[in-house]
Amino acid sequence: MIGATAHFGRQTVEALAGAGRKVRALSRTPEKAGLPEGVEVVRGDLARPETLGAALDGVTELFLVLPYGMDAQPLLDRVRQAGVRQIVFLSSGAVVDGADPQPDGGPAPVNDAVEQLTGHPPRPYTQWVTDNLAAFR
Ligand SMILES: NC(=O)c1ccc[n+]([C@@H]2O[C@H](COP(=O)([O-])OP(=O)(O)OC[C@H]3O[C@@H](n4cnc5c(N)ncnc54)[C@H](OP(=O)(O)O)[C@@H]3O)[C@@H](O)[C@H]2O)c1
Repeated sequence: MIGATAHFGRQTVEALAGAGRKVRALSRTPEKAGLPEGVEVVRGDLARPETLGAALDGVTELFLVLPYGMDAQPLLDRVRQAGVRQIVFLSSGAVVDGADPQPDGGPAPVNDAVEQLTGHPPRPYTQWVTDNLAAFR
């Protein structure tokens, strides 16, 4: 889980751990993460991609809440090398990040990077979130 200690990520980690899933969380400051017992918290910094190797080792599914303004490409290069099979990519600000043409004429760079990695565009879940908004309150 990337973005594990912020608003959405923290609740997601708690839900996954509560459901018995094995969760590894990335944080720049694991000692401050305050995540549930049993969650493996590893130190890493997206701005220093060389720190991500150990964090991705053995990971099969990545839940990515990309911090605002962060370039995803160095991470995704490593995700490819690590053999991650599934990425859940949560975006909002990232889809209106200044790239042309947007929002309806073409992909934001980060979505483009995900598409290049996976071979297909991110599958939109906006309607699902709207339908299930109560779960996030
Ligand atoms: N907050 C809002 O109201 C809001 C509204 C609309 C859209 N969004 C979008 O939602 C996403 C998340 O926003 P947010 O406000 O919850 O969080 P954020 O401030 O964008 O990011 C904080 C989270 O990202 C991690 N993080 C930040 N920089 C990192 C780095 N260099 N390396 C590794 N991890 C890093 C932090 O972990 P550590 O500090 O533990 O390292 C923390 O878990 C963003 O894309 C934002 O645009 C947010």
